[in-house]
Amino acid sequence: MDSMYSRDDELAVITPRLSEIPPQLPSLSNVSSCVAFGCGFGTLDLAFVRHCIANVKEFIAVEPDAACAAQLRMKLPMEMTNVKCVVHEETAQNWKGADHPVVAVLLIHFIYFLNPGERMAFYHRLMDSVLRSGGFVFVVIRPRHTDGEPSSHCQVLKRLNSKAQSELLTDRAVRDAMLSVGFELCYEKTYECHLNVEELDDAFLSIFPRVCLDGALSLELVRQTAQEVFGDSKKVRHDSSLGVFRKP
Ligand SMILES: C[S@@+](CC[C@H](N)C(=O)[O-])C[C@H]1O[C@@H](n2cnc3c(N)ncnc32)[C@H](O)[C@@H]1O
Repeated sequence: MDSMYSRDDELAVITPRLSEIPPQLPSLSNVSSCVAFGCGFGTLDLAFVRHCIANVKEFIAVEPDAACAAQLRMKLPMEMTNVKCVVHEETAQNWKGADHPVVAVLLIHFIYFLNPGERMAFYHRLMDSVLRSGGFVFVVIRPRHTDGEPSSHCQVLKRLNSKAQSELLTDRAVRDAMLSVGFELCYEKTYECHLNVEELDDAFLSIFPRVCLDGALSLELVRQTAQEVFGDSKKVRHDSSLGVFRKP
């Protein structure tokens, strides 16, 4: 993930724009509790907390990776003083749930890690038990260019997906699925971001098989596919899409 973060301008692009959201959704100021699924090292998730739901008093991170969970346990109390922080080192699918419904859920670059069946079950679970009425779900994914063409990064995934016979998630698919389980869309934004694709290292390439849900993909196949798509480019478009949904 470090390799991805260092190549990506997403944090720098999105963070200054996050303060545009609360004036459009004033009830975000009432968000007192939040669960972040797939919180990773918490980098982008914490930016959302600071700029969109700054009055949170309880923050739960659900993160199965031991190194990420260990860092979150150290970092969260330092970065969010006066907030009760809990880290559950487990998958979203195995998470037993909080003892009360929460007011916000963060799904920041997380949803790709669930297969389509798990994803639908998860959206239903958010609606049925995880969130309280009036609560918000923030979903960030990497979808497509603003002109509707797949980004170069998505093209790599798409080629790998066709080889791996799995599927590529789009922002429209997330929106349709969330609406189908009863959420309302209350904010949408696509952020124009870029990815540095010079000198493709193994750490960076190894992210693609994880996102493709097919660990069997060889790094050599990923490298070859990435080189075909990126060509001589130094930077490629790597937009991010945000959807904020509300439980009625
Ligand atoms: C791309 S990272 C995103 C990290 C962070 N949210 C961010 O955007 O900076 C995805 C995270 O999801 C976690 N993850 C993968 N499968 C998961 C699952 N089934 N349940 C919960 N988290 C999962 C990974 O360990 C990883 O830390």
